[in-house]
Amino acid sequence: MAMKNALAIHNLNFAYEDGPAILRDFSLTVPEGQWLAVVGHNGSGKSTLSKLLLGLLAAQSGEMKVFDRVLSEETLPFVRQQIGLVFQNPDNQFVGATVADDVAFGLENKQVDPGAMQATIDQVLAQVGMTDYADRQPDTLSGGQKQRVALASVLALQPKVIILDEATAMLDPAGKAAVLQLLQKLKARYQKDLTLIMVTHDMEEAALADRVVGLENGQLAFDEQPGALFQQGELLARLGLARPFTSALANALPVQPTAQMNEQELLAWLSASKR
Ligand SMILES: Nc1ncnc2c1ncn2[C@@H]1O[C@H](COP(=O)(O)OP(=O)(O)OP(=O)(O)O)[C@@H](O)[C@H]1O
Ligand SMILES: [Mg+2]
Repeated sequence: MAMKNALAIHNLNFAYEDGPAILRDFSLTVPEGQWLAVVGHNGSGKSTLSKLLLGLLAAQSGEMKVFDRVLSEETLPFVRQQIGLVFQNPDNQFVGATVADDVAFGLENKQVDPGAMQATIDQVLAQVGMTDYADRQPDTLSGGQKQRVALASVLALQPKVIILDEATAMLDPAGKAAVLQLLQKLKARYQKDLTLIMVTHDMEEAALADRVVGLENGQLAFDEQPGALFQQGELLARLGLARPFTSALANALPVQPTAQMNEQELLAWLSASKR
């Protein structure tokens, strides 16, 4: 059976008023269920791309399809139902007085049956490990907890695509690890029903994705699987990207593992082979 595309962007051109071109004949297709990492320099247009996809900005030319429907004024409600967005700064995305209210707000907007609402709120807060915080004011939470609530609010709306625009950038290592672990759990649970688009500067994070694309000068500078990308030191350096620690370490070994590995896998591989 042919795979459906979650997103199909074709020859998109975009510039802010009087500004330089941000996207130039930009094309990108994302199959349903893919975990895509989008990387690139500050100002390369990653956040602009997210905003275009949600119809918050309008392209000068080109076409975007979300599950085969061309993005337009008429399809915008459909498109926004399919795509959930989590930003970098958790403080800009709360509207409710409590954590539970905040999740409820999005559901009310979607006119969900009030009888079913509480169950959904309970379920998504449990999914992100924030059940005990339901009655807390969002501004009393830590950054990582806020990001988990932001993710819960998005999950409550059951989008088929979640865009995380540097959603872990402000978190400490533990907070970041918790969010990444949650994403892996969600991906394992929803499989092809969840397409993840993760904008990031962090290569350890990009290593979790199925595919990494790099934006440069309004186009794709590369389109690779993480393992293959991390072999290309020069390309990474040009884009100002650091190779993940495990990849750098593996490369420095006299005998190298064949696959991209995380820390635990690399440790297991090293001890199993007793090198
Ligand atoms: N509202 C705006 N008006 C004019 N120019 C803008 C506007 N928003 C962004 N830009 C410019 O467009 C370019 C792309 O910005 P964008 O925020 O998409 O980059 P980015 O890849 O997300 O960068 P970062 O990694 O820093 O988040 C930048 O040069 C930025 O200054
Ligand atoms: Mg950005």
